[in-house]
Amino acid sequence: MSCAHPMAPEAQHPLREEPWLPVPPSRAMAVTLALLVLVAWPAATAGTVTRDSLLNTCMSAKHHKEKPGPEGQLYGQCVLWKDNACCTANTSQEAHEDQSYLYNFNWDHCGAMPQKCKRHFIQDTCLYECSPNLGPWIDQADNTWRKERIRDVPLCQEDCEQWWEDCQDAVTCKVNWHKGWNWTSGTNQCPQGAMCQKFKFVFPTAAALCEQIWSGSYRYTSHHRGSGRCIQMWFDPAQENPNVAVAQYYARGNAPPSPPLPVLLALLPPALLALL
Ligand SMILES: *[C@@H]1O[C@H](CO)[C@@H](O)[C@H](O)[C@H]1NC(C)=O
Ligand SMILES: *[C@@H]1O[C@H](CO)[C@@H](O)[C@H](O)[C@H]1NC(C)=O
Repeated sequence: MSCAHPMAPEAQHPLREEPWLPVPPSRAMAVTLALLVLVAWPAATAGTVTRDSLLNTCMSAKHHKEKPGPEGQLYGQCVLWKDNACCTANTSQEAHEDQSYLYNFNWDHCGAMPQKCKRHFIQDTCLYECSPNLGPWIDQADNTWRKERIRDVPLCQEDCEQWWEDCQDAVTCKVNWHKGWNWTSGTNQCPQGAMCQKFKFVFPTAAALCEQIWSGSYRYTSHHRGSGRCIQMWFDPAQENPNVAVAQYYARGNAPPSPPLPVLLALLPPALLALL
């Protein structure tokens, strides 16, 4: 037998978990436990506070509100966020306009963008402007017009795939829509020498579209809608916003929650008694 197939880890470690023995804790162990309570709890609390600041928050950008809150009059596709939003009603309405006052951005820079494609860009704008659940992915921006941006937001696979599907026949001249336009006319025009081509040639895969178009704002994932592991651009307005739980999951760094204070306090008396 060659060495190419090492034994499975299970075979090497038949006793993966230490059996729990009901022996009285040693002095050293008691001291350790007592210290654990004194040190771990404040540390855990501090961690929770830091992580909570990533939840229910608005980035510091061009049109975002300072804090999220209810917005009864949100418009069209942005209505999903009416219970708690970082956008105003005005912003939500502008998100549906061509060359809106938001960014003067022209979706039709290589001819009219088909409506079935444009709805994804409207939804992308709604998510960006309105979602209070993007905190874990807020990063500093090197722009004059905004202090913060989003980076690597894990988009649900279906949302990205559908965006790409529906935009196959749309036409553009650029991969990165954040940079490199000719803005001399007041709106974005293709820079000299950039050829207008169908999306499928500019973005060969769905991942290329979602990750490159806004210079890394989104990350393509294989997580599915409803998994709690990816951000949904679209969701059922009759359901609660599924992205609340996703932000919570990533804000705590994928780790299980720290032991609550009562558990640590319960460990304290036996630990102290053992010291006597
Ligand atoms: C939104 O507000 C801007 C600036 O005040 C204004 O120019 C624009 O017309 C408003 N848009 C809508 C749809 O009300
Ligand atoms: C930018 O667009 C204007 C027309 O709006 C054109 O005259 C100019 O040559 C363009 N500049 C570049 C660098 O493409």
